[in-house]
Amino acid sequence: MKYFLDSAKLDEIRYAYENWAIDGVTTNPRHVMNSGKPLVTLLDEFASEFRGVKNFPISVEINPHLDDAKEMVREGQKLAALSDNFVVKIPCTEPGLIAAKELEKEGVPTNVTLVFSPSQALQAGRIDAKFVSPFVGWKENSGDDTTQYIQDIASIYKTYQFDTEIIVAALRNGKQIVDAAKAGAHIVTCGFEVFQNSFYHAFTDYGLNVFRKAWDSTVKEETVR
Ligand code: E4P
Repeated sequence: MKYFLDSAKLDEIRYAYENWAIDGVTTNPRHVMNSGKPLVTLLDEFASEFRGVKNFPISVEINPHLDDAKEMVREGQKLAALSDNFVVKIPCTEPGLIAAKELEKEGVPTNVTLVFSPSQALQAGRIDAKFVSPFVGWKENSGDDTTQYIQDIASIYKTYQFDTEIIVAALRNGKQIVDAAKAGAHIVTCGFEVFQNSFYHAFTDYGLNVFRKAWDSTVKEETVR
């Protein structure tokens, strides 16, 4: 399963790329706001940072105020022209799906986002979107169970042999990453701390402490001689 970093902070992205072997990046308007930089500056930085890096998709979301498919397509074309790595992130609305279908036809990869049901994911697969992003955290905040929802999407995609890759998004902890993997997701996208916490276990620290004490108390060669 691939790991994408959900962030628009270049220092985090660089760190995760160099140290964690992340496979791509997803951004959204909230991440862009949190970066403290204007969108145009950010996109320039992303484009030059990853110029020539193959197979490293960076999802960039279109203006969320757009609700006309033609305008969405125009904006998507502009974004895609900035970098070979850019994937156009489009909301799963009717105009959004129409725009994604058109962009894919033109060879522009899309990521259909804000997906909250298998029926939405089904249409994203049918139109051959490059990626689909079902959200988990937001649904679980509302008390929904999301295990079945991701399993259903994965099983539908398998049955119909859709090429669309499932990015399970808005994950909050390591258990949700593992649930996504077990359900058959192709990718998870998580914030920096969610990944960092998922690499940690208190028993690893505890065990390390035990072994360090043993190491320090082991009879040294010079004592034996
Ligand atoms: C996914 O592509 C989204 O960017 C993301 O997961 C949104 O959710 P969050 O910011 O609440 O995690």
